[in-house]
Amino acid sequence: MHSFLKVILCTALLASGCLATSSHKKTCTDYEIPVTPTSVNLVWGKKFEANFDVVDFVSNINSRTAATSFNPYDLTAPPALTTASYTISATFCTPKKGATGTVLLLSHGLNFDRSYWDPEVSKEKYSFVDWAIARGYSVFYYDRLGVGKSTLVSGYANQASIQIAILEQLATSIRAGKYTGAFGTPKSLVLIGHSFGSVLSSALVTVVPSIAEGLVLTGFSFNGTNGAGFLEAFQPRIASGESSKWKPLDTGYLTPTDIYSNVNVFFKAPDYDVGIAKYAHRNRQPFGINEATSGGLVDLAPLNFTGPAMVIAGQFDLIFCTGQCDEVIEHPAKEIFSQAKAFKAVSYAGAGHGLNFALNATGAFELITEFLSTNGL
Ligand SMILES: *[C@@H]1O[C@H](CO)[C@@H](O)[C@H](O)[C@H]1NC(C)=O
Ligand SMILES: *[C@@H]1O[C@H](CO)[C@@H](O)[C@H](O)[C@H]1NC(C)=O
Ligand SMILES: *[C@@H]1O[C@H](CO)[C@@H](O)[C@H](O)[C@H]1NC(C)=O
Repeated sequence: MHSFLKVILCTALLASGCLATSSHKKTCTDYEIPVTPTSVNLVWGKKFEANFDVVDFVSNINSRTAATSFNPYDLTAPPALTTASYTISATFCTPKKGATGTVLLLSHGLNFDRSYWDPEVSKEKYSFVDWAIARGYSVFYYDRLGVGKSTLVSGYANQASIQIAILEQLATSIRAGKYTGAFGTPKSLVLIGHSFGSVLSSALVTVVPSIAEGLVLTGFSFNGTNGAGFLEAFQPRIASGESSKWKPLDTGYLTPTDIYSNVNVFFKAPDYDVGIAKYAHRNRQPFGINEATSGGLVDLAPLNFTGPAMVIAGQFDLIFCTGQCDEVIEHPAKEIFSQAKAFKAVSYAGAGHGLNFALNATGAFELITEFLSTNGL
């Protein structure tokens, strides 16, 4: 829908407290959701004062001996149990006709906001939301903490443990029929993540296996060897110095220096359209450095998950497969999901890390929704 029309609609409906927008296929409602996560949080060490510090940090964390020679956290401050309140901005969409009972809860990764699942351009090629809606699924997607319209926090404080606790609260609310409008209580909930969003989804299901009936981890593998290596390719810079729109962010927020460093991490030639890479770069979202480092420190092997589980990454995924997923996507994923009702691992031909923006993204979407529907979701 054109944003102008959307504004009029929203303004007209504000009186009734409703921010619903609607097209001929779907009804969407935006929510501002209060959350109060409790989590054990790591305390950051030395903050960046300039891009020289960022560059040195990237060198240190990628050293061959980093496991023993470098730790970015404040070693004098033990991880602390912390509770705080935030607002998460989210969208729930449901098909106008033929909705199944399944809600897909989508968590985006670093460098994006919720529009990763529903970009403003070429929706027929890249919108997972529209793909899922056309197959009867309802979708709930949100800006993660520190991104888009959700609460801004320090990039040194923002981390996986907080966001896992937030995802748990969102999932629990959706299961109770909150933030789903007239759709009400879902019959089933499926967690779907991309990259860092997959880390969060997998980690949550590890702690609370009954939180979802299905799990789909995209842009992800359990057999990564690259560690923080992607940061070298990403060439991050302090975001507040890169654009005036990021002035409110502290120096813990970073962003790739140019479109080539962005492409280096998220796209693989010849499997992308330069137009969508430009769009992704224009709309990129700074990530918290502690998000990037804490993601590797959480337990994310859901050994007790019994629902259908799928892992799918672009064949040439840099972050999770060091550029070649064929040999590594299947194991140890299959062993981790040995209790799952069904399991599927896919190294998706041709694609890079940004799976939804590959040339044939809808082919990946098809594998995902087919896997779910074949397994009763
Ligand atoms: C899986 O379940 C078993 C039995 O309830 C429990 O002992 C074990 O700690 C669980 N594993 C994980 C990773 O939660
Ligand atoms: C990761 O993949 C390699 C290559 O296929 C395989 O040899 C190895 O066993 C896998 N790692 C685990 C923990 O399964
Ligand atoms: C896109 O992906 C689907 C599913 O993997 C496949 O069947 C189809 O042939 C692909 N299309 C192109 C143009 O590669």
